[in-house]
Amino acid sequence: MWQDIEAAPVDAIFGLTDAFKKDQNPEKVNLGVGVYKDDDNNTPILNCVKFAEAILLEKEKSKSYLPISGDPVYAANVQKLLFGETGEVISSGRAVTVHAPGGTGALRVGGDLLKKFYPEAKMWISSPTWANHKGVFNTAGFELAEYAYYNAETKDLDFDAMVAVLETIPAGDVVLLHACCHNPSGVDLSPEQWAKVASVSKEKGWVPFLDFAYQGFGESIEADRCGIEQFAALGEDFLVASSFSKNLGLYNERTGSLTIVSPTAEESAVAMSHVKATIRVIYSNPPAHGGLVAATILSNPELYSQWLGELGDMRDRIKAMRLALVDGLVKRGLKGDFSYIIKQRGMFSFSGLSADVVAWLRENKSIYIVGGGRINLAGLTSGNIDYVCDGIAEALSKR
Ligand code: LMR
Repeated sequence: MWQDIEAAPVDAIFGLTDAFKKDQNPEKVNLGVGVYKDDDNNTPILNCVKFAEAILLEKEKSKSYLPISGDPVYAANVQKLLFGETGEVISSGRAVTVHAPGGTGALRVGGDLLKKFYPEAKMWISSPTWANHKGVFNTAGFELAEYAYYNAETKDLDFDAMVAVLETIPAGDVVLLHACCHNPSGVDLSPEQWAKVASVSKEKGWVPFLDFAYQGFGESIEADRCGIEQFAALGEDFLVASSFSKNLGLYNERTGSLTIVSPTAEESAVAMSHVKATIRVIYSNPPAHGGLVAATILSNPELYSQWLGELGDMRDRIKAMRLALVDGLVKRGLKGDFSYIIKQRGMFSFSGLSADVVAWLRENKSIYIVGGGRINLAGLTSGNIDYVCDGIAEALSKR
């Protein structure tokens, strides 16, 4: 069946991890996939997760199916994180949430749902965007278009260019926005810029779809949802794909969610009926464990505050690595202003390293960076920072 079929290209991000695992160089460094590492280069299970798992082990009485939409306690807690405990969106019943397998699963379910009812809608993605967005929405059948976002020269957001495109997008099209910690650039909108984007969405009638995979990795749970709050205040339709892969470290538990917000609770109920029908024919109902862990932590004040502490530690370590990287590059005499690395937020830095340099670092130093120059700062440790800075300095000295 497969002899005349060409192999698919390796995945831009997970393919790097596969190559990294095979690499025999003891000094190898993986700055590719967006996975948190502690300073010992481990991806830890958070203590709050371990406690929640112990509670579940005692308490769990059955492995029977969850509802198609997942555990309702999980959904209610996701909404509190997205909108705040007292959010109008929650009290009005305008939001419905389903547990989806990871943020990717949530994006795809949302894509399939929108495509079914709005087959003519285009999907607008930022330039650049996460490597998998194109695949997810192309496969859901969308025609894709790009809006301006990152300016490679200023290494910053090109907000005027972004708004200029957003103002041309017709009613009914869908605009995919990174709610915080933009992947891959690390360049985010300010609260004022979010307010402007929200007002353009209302004026033009396009539908915001927020990808929210890094809540808490920018500034805090509250500050990172400022974009979501702007859309919530409009009283219009929007969608959010969120994930606990990063902020609870539940990567392999596939714990994400799709939240659909509508102008009225009645419309949301209709949306929920169709999102359930969409899920039923893809994976029927979600895996339970990660959702139960998240729900246990989020509904237990002690575990919740422990989680905030552990999340803060992860965020602070990444920020420290930003500073260490800049310091290391400056100390090696590299010319240029690296303050943009410090300004960027979340796990990533769009390093500005060219494709040649990225390839040279991989071939000669076993330093793995995503094509395009995205560095996962959480892969830097006090044990490998000098090796990485030496490698970058050497690579640049050859150009
Ligand atoms: C990343 O961007 O590296 C992560 O979100 C992992 C993934 O699924 O690509």
